[in-house]
Amino acid sequence: MTRLTFYVTTPIYYVNAAPHLGTAYTTVAADVIARYKRLCGFDVHFLTGTDEHGQKVAKSAEEAGLDPKSWADTVVPQFHEAWKLLEVSNDDFIRTTDERHEKGAAAFMQRVYDSGHIRKDHYEGWYCIHDETFFTEEQVGPDRVCPDCSRPVQLLKEENYFFKLSAFAEPLLEHIRTHPAFVQPEIRKNEVVSFIEMGLKDLSISRPMTSLTWGIPLPFDPDHVMYVWFDALLNYITAIGYGEDERRFDQYWPVDWHLVGKDIIRFHCVIWPAMLMAAGVALPKHVFAHGFLLAKGEKMSKSKGNVLAPADLVARFGADAYRYYFMREVPFGGDGSISIETMVLRYNADLANDYGNLVSRLTNMFEKYLGGVIPANPKMPGDWNTLDGELIKGCESLYADVDSALETLQFSDALKEVWERVRLTNRYVEDSAPWNLAKDPATHGRLKEVLWRAAEAVRIITLFVWPVMPAAAERAWDQLGLTESLGTIPQATGACMDVDEVPDGLRSCALWGKLPEGAKVHKGEALFPRIYEDDSSIS
Ligand code: MSP
Repeated sequence: MTRLTFYVTTPIYYVNAAPHLGTAYTTVAADVIARYKRLCGFDVHFLTGTDEHGQKVAKSAEEAGLDPKSWADTVVPQFHEAWKLLEVSNDDFIRTTDERHEKGAAAFMQRVYDSGHIRKDHYEGWYCIHDETFFTEEQVGPDRVCPDCSRPVQLLKEENYFFKLSAFAEPLLEHIRTHPAFVQPEIRKNEVVSFIEMGLKDLSISRPMTSLTWGIPLPFDPDHVMYVWFDALLNYITAIGYGEDERRFDQYWPVDWHLVGKDIIRFHCVIWPAMLMAAGVALPKHVFAHGFLLAKGEKMSKSKGNVLAPADLVARFGADAYRYYFMREVPFGGDGSISIETMVLRYNADLANDYGNLVSRLTNMFEKYLGGVIPANPKMPGDWNTLDGELIKGCESLYADVDSALETLQFSDALKEVWERVRLTNRYVEDSAPWNLAKDPATHGRLKEVLWRAAEAVRIITLFVWPVMPAAAERAWDQLGLTESLGTIPQATGACMDVDEVPDGLRSCALWGKLPEGAKVHKGEALFPRIYEDDSSIS
């Protein structure tokens, strides 16, 4: 029996710089959806990696006094370390210098050549090394600067191979029309459509060895290397066996989500699908372009000197709180301002006060009043318009609400739904006042009922906390005396794994009533110790 698959990717990052908050943002988002889908029971494949060819990387290597491959070898471990630190659970990491990639990319190129979509021509125009993008005279204007990053561009006069991109304008528009969810969010779709409607020009897809040697040689003319973007985009298929392992390729392709930043939407929603059409390969199901993280109102970038290092923030707040902050604070798709001040506020309000405090006061009361043992599952309330009824209804609808927000990658909305239930449970505890019920033996029955229900609510909530904050959720889970690991829930429940059926693991686990009688609750250390305002070890 095979399980339904779910394939998600991040862009592959240039190795000219160490990972930063921008690249970490996409990677954490991809990790959250990958973990969520695993929890549901999908066979998930989560890919990230590095983009190592091209002039930009060659230049950084030269500045460092190394050959490009040795330079990349020094930077790649920094990506592995950063992703480990941020609890990123990628299934694969592709480097464009991997043999599997170079072979698959050459096979793809040959296929596009054989199908008549490549021609040789003379190229005269402008090139931005920073963006690895060709521009026309008009686009660079009299100042000869890149219209995207404002850096000076260089003039190229070369014999190049061209991809007949112009032939794909109509098929692309047709695809977008018939697949309204292909480009998301809507604003980016409109941008892509108007870009195509303005007319597509054929695209230079090679550089002669005389001007650049750091790339994959064209299989049909080894005196030229592949244009770095053509090479890089192919990672999404070479990593899963394109041209090598058809069974594996068919298992995961077409990809469910390509996650990218809004600056690289045209490469992913115009050039990439046209390349795939030319080679007769199915198109991605969805591409989602997120916005930029802004620090002090500006896009973070090395040149602006406002780049925050993920490791510094993790040292201060922990990886879980880091992940929570970026997923909750910035609605996915828009630009978002971030700052240490708002990070401290969110940490204290949502994590220390709301969720952390709920877990700690509850486990404390279990130890104090019930000897740390989960009592029997109380009967469902007869009247639903009660505190108990409200709590149960609220928790039972959580799966549907989170799932529908994550259907379009609205992480912030999904977390709002989860935190609504955290607050509901806090109110339930507050209004039921177990500390008063404990005073009188006559109300001990009610005490057990209240604590059982509050713990059951926390169990359900914690399932949905896990994709965003895996370590904290595992700890809360453990404090509730739940033994099976959260990450293996769908397997453990043996929930629906049939082909073509949406897996049922999380939905069934999130149903009310599964908290096991007799489990041993214990109070552990605070999940999120409060951070005091005057503690300015980072600013
Ligand atoms: N190598 C190409 C991608 C090839 S994919 C086939 C590339 N690499 S990159 O390292 O420059 O950037 C990767 C991603 O980081 C982009 O999606 C970009 O949008 C994102 N970010 C870089 N700075 C950012 C912010 N300040 N905020 C959010 N994301 C931004 O492009």
